[in-house]
Amino acid sequence: MLELGVNIDHVATIRQARKTYEPDPVTAAAMAEIGGADCITVHLREDRRHIIDRDVRILTDTVNIKLNLEMSIADDIVNLACETKPNQATLVPEKREEVTTEGGLDVVGNYSNIESVVKRLQDAGISVSLFLDPEEAQISAASELQVDAVELHTGQYALTSGDERQHCLQELIASGKQIVENGMTLHAGHGLNYQNVIPVAQIENMVELNIGHSIIARAVFIGLTQAVREMKDLLVIAESRS
Ligand code: PXP
Repeated sequence: MLELGVNIDHVATIRQARKTYEPDPVTAAAMAEIGGADCITVHLREDRRHIIDRDVRILTDTVNIKLNLEMSIADDIVNLACETKPNQATLVPEKREEVTTEGGLDVVGNYSNIESVVKRLQDAGISVSLFLDPEEAQISAASELQVDAVELHTGQYALTSGDERQHCLQELIASGKQIVENGMTLHAGHGLNYQNVIPVAQIENMVELNIGHSIIARAVFIGLTQAVREMKDLLVIAESRS
């Protein structure tokens, strides 16, 4: 079954706009779970602009489904991950000035630093996924590191249309094949929404999709549980047709 990871960072963004206690991402996680989410995803950024340490501590205790912590390789974040032990850590690159994660991790260029963090996380019993652009060399490096999964960056696919989008889709399909042939689990995410998710959901051996912005945007009008349910329904349709 294709798993839906719901990224609830935007709920924390609203809370941090007033530095208050509401809305609480912990409540959002429970509502997403009721709506059929298979995984809750949060990104603890180095500047703590949305999710804060307290959220990670409580969510690791209260989430009954998979908890996926998106994170950089900064020391304090790795320490918190090893202490709280989410089910999965997804390593992402992080730039302070970016609005959202802008590209995949450069495993080739930063191999030894990433290698030591992967080892620390896996030794702590955390499954490790790397967020990568659909590039052969990056996926080969991930395979050498023996990570558990690769999350393919679908941002470029989401931004394009027509022939360009088809080209991006073919790249994702080829990279998906490489990931699975190398024994890693296939995930994808970024920029996916109710209109563009089905072709990505139908990529062979896709296991987990992480979706944030579009679900939270829809939730503003129809509620989070229903917004998650509608996305989950689309994934079920995609699977039944492929
Ligand atoms: N996957 C990763 C690794 C991300 O960094 C993000 C954004 O936080 C997402 C998925 C979700 O992207 P979006 O909010 O565009 O659905």
